[in-house]
Amino acid sequence: MEIVILDSTERIASAAADAVEQVLRTHETPVLGLATGSSPLPVYREIVRRHTEDGLSLAHARAFLLDEYVGLPHGHPESYREVIRRELTGLVDIPAASVQGPDGGADDVAAAGRRYDEAIHAAGGVDLQLLGIGSDGHIAFNEPGSSLASRTRLKTLTEQTRQDNARFFDHVDDVPYHVLTQGLGTIMEARHLVLVATGEGKAEAVAAMVEGPVSQVCPASVTQMHPHVSVLLDEAAASRLR
Ligand code: F6R
Repeated sequence: MEIVILDSTERIASAAADAVEQVLRTHETPVLGLATGSSPLPVYREIVRRHTEDGLSLAHARAFLLDEYVGLPHGHPESYREVIRRELTGLVDIPAASVQGPDGGADDVAAAGRRYDEAIHAAGGVDLQLLGIGSDGHIAFNEPGSSLASRTRLKTLTEQTRQDNARFFDHVDDVPYHVLTQGLGTIMEARHLVLVATGEGKAEAVAAMVEGPVSQVCPASVTQMHPHVSVLLDEAAASRLR
């Protein structure tokens, strides 16, 4: 696990965008794994800038979202499908048909989860997976207690995650209770994990992920078992590391 502590969000965004750019430039059909939430937004802004100003192309890429809320109507502005379109994929040249997310609106969510894992597999797997981390140590929406071998499936958000995500909605009561999320086993199959965390609020989760035991108590700790992980932190997020 490579830990990189940088002194600004811009530098973190630039380092993550460098990793994405390298995959885009060296793979014939690059497959990106995209996270939502606040942490990757500066990375997406930097990728959009490189596309607009430097001609970086995503036309040949495919992308898979990490997770999706269950219960939001199709096209809801806070559905992760919409968020990623607004923040990244709608601003670059990746074809809309090349971007997939878990189908949180499916009648049979369990089957939709299985289909999603199959689609990732059929695309050849994810070359680079961007990740954030929740203040309770979740990655994607694998909340504490998640099986370390889990596949894409329905999960219930913890109260803490619903409170953390309330800022995207008018009221905490509007935050869905359920999500369809890639499992930890699914995420671990990506060839390179790039996790971005900033701010004091992430410091405890980051320390548990990097230095704690590999345990369902901190789902992100499973990444200690992955052969290629880059953790990009600011000083506040790194402040509890020994
Ligand atoms: C969202 C996701 C979540 C977030 C995490 C951190 O697709 O997978 O694991 O990365 O909740 O969210 P922020 O970055 O908003 O603090």
